[in-house]
Amino acid sequence: MLFEMDPLPLLEADAERRAALQARIDGHEVGVSRAVVAPDLIERLTGWLAGVGRASLPNYVALTPGAPNAHRVNRWDERSFVRANYHQFSFNPWNQDPFDVFRLMAPVFRLRNLLAGAPSEKYLGRAPEEGSIARMLFHFYPAGEGCMNLHRDPVGPHQVAVPLMAMSRFGADYSAGGLVLQDAAGVLRAVDAELAPGDVVWFHPQQPHGIETIDPDTPSDWLSFRGRWSGVFAVNKLQGEASIADAADLGRG
Ligand SMILES: [Fe+2]
Repeated sequence: MLFEMDPLPLLEADAERRAALQARIDGHEVGVSRAVVAPDLIERLTGWLAGVGRASLPNYVALTPGAPNAHRVNRWDERSFVRANYHQFSFNPWNQDPFDVFRLMAPVFRLRNLLAGAPSEKYLGRAPEEGSIARMLFHFYPAGEGCMNLHRDPVGPHQVAVPLMAMSRFGADYSAGGLVLQDAAGVLRAVDAELAPGDVVWFHPQQPHGIETIDPDTPSDWLSFRGRWSGVFAVNKLQGEASIADAADLGRG
């Protein structure tokens, strides 16, 4: 169900190519940018994150100016607009990290901005813009438990297309579950088998999507870090700012 997109530098340089891409995304087609980050670098990054996750306590850290990078666990948290089970590692643009994740992921954030009609570097600086900043989130969905309900995300000046990076390999790291998207006919389509670590899929925020339980028959063990990693290119309001419209949970995927 995926269509192959032009390379990110070509799209960044050419407004006509971007308009053609956005028209397909608006029609609830799902695009893919291949090998945005090399698979061996993805493996080093997820290995490092797993080490951080095993060796330090998860904690909720509010998104305020200067907030540190952090990781937390969400297990059907009732305060979340979209119910889910996952381990989240969050990176803010003002912090240091050994992988310099914003430099690594910048081409995706830039295209995300340009599609929305915003300057390519918006939200990527140290100071918030319109009360918002870019955040790189890594989500780990553990085998046996990791999932996210089917939902829609808000459309607005901050987003008209949602990019998600595959960071695990279907058939090797896990063999059931993963990203599903509802096609224009209302049929849920699984896409992970068509992706390699470092590929980025792009879809419309209002296209219902979710994560079906990863290897549902495996006993869950959050510290084994067996399961599915993905990269989320977010733009979030800082705490205390009026909220960007909330995502709509459509119930269990
Ligand atoms: Fe979403």
